[in-house]
Amino acid sequence: MRIKYTISIVFFVALVIIEKENNIISRVSDKLTLKQTPQTPLQPSSFSHILQKHNASITPPKNNSAFTLMKRRLENYSEHQEVRTRGRKHILLLATTRTGSSFVGEFFNQQGDNMFYLFEPLWHVEKMLTLDTGGTNATASAKAYRDVLQQLLLCDFSLMESFIDPLPVDHITTALFRRESSSSLCEESVCSPFVKGVFERYHCRTRRCGPLNLTMASLSCLQKEHRAIKSVRVRQLETLRPLAEDPRLDVKFIQLVRDPRAVLASRMVAFAAKYKNWKEWAAGGDIPIDDDEVRKLKGNCDNIKMSAEIGLRRPQWLRGRYMLVRYEDIARFPMRKAAEMYRFAGIPFTPQVKSWILKNTQASKDTSGVYSTQKNSSEQVEKWRFSIPFKIAQVVQKVCGPTLKLFGYKFVSSEEMLTDKSVSLIENKVFNVL
Ligand SMILES: *[C@@H]1O[C@H](CO)[C@@H](O)[C@H](O)[C@H]1NC(C)=O
Ligand SMILES: *[C@@H]1O[C@H](CO)[C@@H](O)[C@H](O)[C@H]1NC(C)=O
Ligand SMILES: *[C@@H]1O[C@H](CO)[C@@H](O)[C@H](O)[C@H]1NC(C)=O
Ligand SMILES: *[C@@H]1O[C@H](CO)[C@@H](O)[C@H](O)[C@H]1NC(C)=O
Ligand SMILES: *[C@@H]1O[C@H](CO)[C@@H](O)[C@H](O)[C@H]1NC(C)=O
Ligand SMILES: *[C@@H]1O[C@H](CO)[C@@H](O)[C@H](O)[C@H]1NC(C)=O
Repeated sequence: MRIKYTISIVFFVALVIIEKENNIISRVSDKLTLKQTPQTPLQPSSFSHILQKHNASITPPKNNSAFTLMKRRLENYSEHQEVRTRGRKHILLLATTRTGSSFVGEFFNQQGDNMFYLFEPLWHVEKMLTLDTGGTNATASAKAYRDVLQQLLLCDFSLMESFIDPLPVDHITTALFRRESSSSLCEESVCSPFVKGVFERYHCRTRRCGPLNLTMASLSCLQKEHRAIKSVRVRQLETLRPLAEDPRLDVKFIQLVRDPRAVLASRMVAFAAKYKNWKEWAAGGDIPIDDDEVRKLKGNCDNIKMSAEIGLRRPQWLRGRYMLVRYEDIARFPMRKAAEMYRFAGIPFTPQVKSWILKNTQASKDTSGVYSTQKNSSEQVEKWRFSIPFKIAQVVQKVCGPTLKLFGYKFVSSEEMLTDKSVSLIENKVFNVL
């Protein structure tokens, strides 16, 4: 009997020691990764055009084999123990432009002290990889997007840095795209002293900070429990498969979609000049609409559909890692959908997020009382039906038909139906078995 007890106690003590050691090792390993960020292989060959654009050289990674070996051992160790990912979630909010992704991104940006949130870090990558033709090489950019996202989710900014123009000096930049949209990049610990006379296009609004020190950002990121990134640039979910399979990460993909007719209506307002011909054509003009724009529309719809089909098929690598959300559902039931997203991500839904949602979705009060959130948002979400010409809605239905069908957006067969408020174009649909 006594021997049994002794064995149990020894066993228990051993477990505690192992546990402690793991934590220390994982912390040391994080620190090492951070200190050595410039040594992360940059694959100079595949990104050589970046170097050309910068007209500067990124010093090729030094080969410190002892360090590399130790780092790898540590990584191996922690990976196998799954210490680094225990409870830590990595959220990727994937959308396309004009789908309300900035708004939905706020659900995570507002989470509070536990979340490191980045807003469109791939903006820099896309910009750098944009060819003279105005487009990008889809294969090359998909690879760059994937590698940058993977590093960022591990709080490593080094590859991302190489895409920032002008190239940061000593990891300091004045040019990080919409820095102020990530509250994590404007908090005290990432706020270096304000420097007089330095122009910053994107600067913190909550406090006066100097240029962004990416080393500080990285250190802050490592302290946070969870990490979230919003991006409208990933075209195919499948290109991110290595992230789902990276044992250092516990990635949760949230794909945000919206009725392509509403997206186009929104684009027609935002980029009015570009769609001048469309409007004229819809109003009875005889100049046919630009084939190139139609092809782009179709390409977008097909990419979104393909990504969603993979997600909804639930292949092994995506099990429990994929959620599809329609913007229309978020607009109509923001609190419920936000709670679902948090539940899916495995992160507690904080009061900060709740109050932010209340504040930002609530109808304005008027003398007759208070509008309900739902009623107001419902109105907003269907507004596009009164701005898009029926002929253009038909074009979208033609080229994006299968996409509309998959997400449960009803086709309209006449102008009257398009503008008939009593007919909802949003079918009730449940996509995720959570
Ligand atoms: C690129 O660098 C070279 C040599 O350092 C310099 O002469 C040239 O003006 C630079 N070009 C640009 C576009 O900055
Ligand atoms: C870097 O180190 C690795 C492992 O120690 C070695 O195989 C490789 O040849 C080294 N590369 C260079 C460029 O020194
Ligand atoms: C890491 O783990 C793999 C697989 O278990 C093993 O083959 C490799 O030798 C390990 N690497 C180091 C540096 O310990
Ligand atoms: C796109 O990039 C890939 C990989 O970098 C390259 O193999 C391919 O030739 C490029 N395609 C075009 C059309 O330039
Ligand atoms: C950036 O932050 C790091 C970490 O706090 C610090 O060591 C470094 O000196 C800072 N860089 C500059 C140029 O202030
Ligand atoms: C609906 O909400 C928006 C944004 O909160 C607000 O600007 C608008 O006035 C509200 N509309 C109505 C009818 O309450």
